[in-house]
Amino acid sequence: MTARIAGIGAYVPETIVTNDDLAKIVETSDEWISSRTGIRERRISTKEGTSDLAAEAARRALEAAGVKPEELDLIILGTSSPDCNYPSGACEVQAKIGAVNAAAFDISAACSGFIFAMNIVQGFFKSGIYQTALIIGAETLSKVVDWDDRSTCVLFGDGAGAAVLKNEESGIIDMLMGSDGTKGEALKCTSRSLGNFLTGERPELGFMTMDGQEVFRFAVKRVPESIESLIKRNQTAKEDIRYYILHQANERIVEAVARRLKEPMDKFPMIIEKYGNTSTASIPLLLDDMVKKGMLKAGDKIILSGFGAGMTWGAVLLEW
Ligand code: ACO
Repeated sequence: MTARIAGIGAYVPETIVTNDDLAKIVETSDEWISSRTGIRERRISTKEGTSDLAAEAARRALEAAGVKPEELDLIILGTSSPDCNYPSGACEVQAKIGAVNAAAFDISAACSGFIFAMNIVQGFFKSGIYQTALIIGAETLSKVVDWDDRSTCVLFGDGAGAAVLKNEESGIIDMLMGSDGTKGEALKCTSRSLGNFLTGERPELGFMTMDGQEVFRFAVKRVPESIESLIKRNQTAKEDIRYYILHQANERIVEAVARRLKEPMDKFPMIIEKYGNTSTASIPLLLDDMVKKGMLKAGDKIILSGFGAGMTWGAVLLEW
């Protein structure tokens, strides 16, 4: 038995912020942003929090799967921008959708969160503990981005994607995860300062900082390596892979990965143009877009690949 994606759902806030809009608040241009990243616009939340976006994506995934909230055994939310330290975003989603029988918790694996969540569910399914799970990737990164820093604020967007997983005969074939904590400084968002009565400082919220070139180097090395490794150890031919569904960080990263894998760009669908980098939400947002366009057929072999802060990376080979 293995995890099968039974339904996908996605939700983004309605406010669209274009590159030209950003050029009014920092020194940048549509040309600079789109030529270096592929991004033209992103959604920014003004009213809804991470758990609101997550709950709506979850409702849509449940509807697509034909699963009732009370049938869920488990909810895992991958996020690096939760609304609260506690309760977890997953518990907030549980309450919003009425998944009364589910255990719920968040994981922090940045842009790899959706893949890590899928891996965790697979473990529970393989052990026979749970049969039906909901995984969600949701972010409101707009609240941790430094809107005075043009090198990061142009990259990110808010959104959520979810998948209902069921323990069935076919689905996930193999998966892997990895982390390299020594490179953590490359992409960082502190949430703690030593603000207490002894230091006399007030607690401060941190903003995201990024060494873009270090992240780029990490991604174009680790992503093809992990994909090659999955393909090799499952004796699968690249010709048998219908699509590579990569975390939507940057068009140039996706192109570099395609070159290293010697695979054509039409096997690498993208939605970064519309949504920017939505971190852990990007893979389910892309899957949802592909389902709506009828791009995925039963039996298609696809590879999902996430990578991000930590640094972390993970990949899944599955049959649709
Ligand atoms: N508009 C105009 N100019 C800018 C902007 C901007 N938004 N941002 C930076 N610049 C300037 C810099 O100040 C610099 O100017 P200088 O030469 O006068 O000092 C110049 O552009 C070049 O800056 P670099 O940082 O060297 O730009 P680079 O070509 O490396 O592109 C980018 C930056 C797009 C971030 C690139 O490094 C990259 O793609 N990195 C990958 C990081 C990434 O995708 N992160 C996403 C989050 S991580 C994740 O999801 C896994």
